Amino acid sequence: MFITLEGVDGAGKSSHLNWLETWFTSRGRQVRMTREPGGTAIGEQLREMVLHQPMHAETEALIMFAARREHIEQVIRPALAAGEVVISDRFTDASFAYQSGGRGLPEARLAVLEDWVHADLQPDLTFLFDLAPEIAAQRLSSARAPDRFEREQTDFHARVRAAYLRRAEQFSARIRIIDGSRSIDQVRLQLSTVLDAAMETKV
Ligand code: TYD
Repeated sequence: MFITLEGVDGAGKSSHLNWLETWFTSRGRQVRMTREPGGTAIGEQLREMVLHQPMHAETEALIMFAARREHIEQVIRPALAAGEVVISDRFTDASFAYQSGGRGLPEARLAVLEDWVHADLQPDLTFLFDLAPEIAAQRLSSARAPDRFEREQTDFHARVRAAYLRRAEQFSARIRIIDGSRSIDQVRLQLSTVLDAAMETKV
C-alpha cells in the first residue's frame, strides 16, 4: 500500500507522520517512511538545492521529478515489492499544486513528466491536509527558518491550496481531504476513519 501526505506548508501533516507509522506497525505491518523531495542520497542533495537556491520554475519542476525518479527506483518500488506500507511525505500532487498552481506552469507539462517518471504508479491513498493559508502561515512563523516555498506570499499558498482542492475533486476516490483546522485528536479520528475503511477494501 502506497500512501502520500499533502497540503500547503503549515497545514499540519508532519504532526501525524509518527502516529500514522504506529497505526500500521501496531497492526503488524512493515512501514517505510519517506519524503519528497528527498528519500535517497541524490534526492536529499537535490532537495537542498531546490529548497534554497533561486531557479527557473521549470528547473524546479525538473528537479522534483529527477529526485522522484530516483526515489521510486531505490525506495518506493522495492518497499512495495517487499509488501511494506510506504508512507511518503509528499509526492506528485505537490508538483501539480506548487509548480503548476503556485508557479503557474501548465499542468500538461507536469503531466508529461508524470507519464515519463511513473506512468504505472500512483498512490493508493492520499491525505490532503487542508487549511486556510493565513492560518497555515501563522503556524509556520514560529517554526525554523523558512525555505524558498515557505517564504512565498499568501497568494502563492492560496493558489497551491486551490490546485490541491481541484485535484481532490478530480481524484476523489484516492485523495481524502483532512480538515487541518481541527485539533490533533480530531484529525487523528478523521485519519483512522479513512484508514479503517481503506484496510477493509485493500487487505
Ligand atoms: P515539506 O514537506 O514542506 O518539508 P518540511 O516540512 O521539512 O518543510 O516539503 C518541502 C517543500 O517542497 C514544500 O514547500 C513543497 C515543496 N514541493 C514542491 O514544490 N514540489 C514537489 O513536487 C514536492 C514534492 C515538494
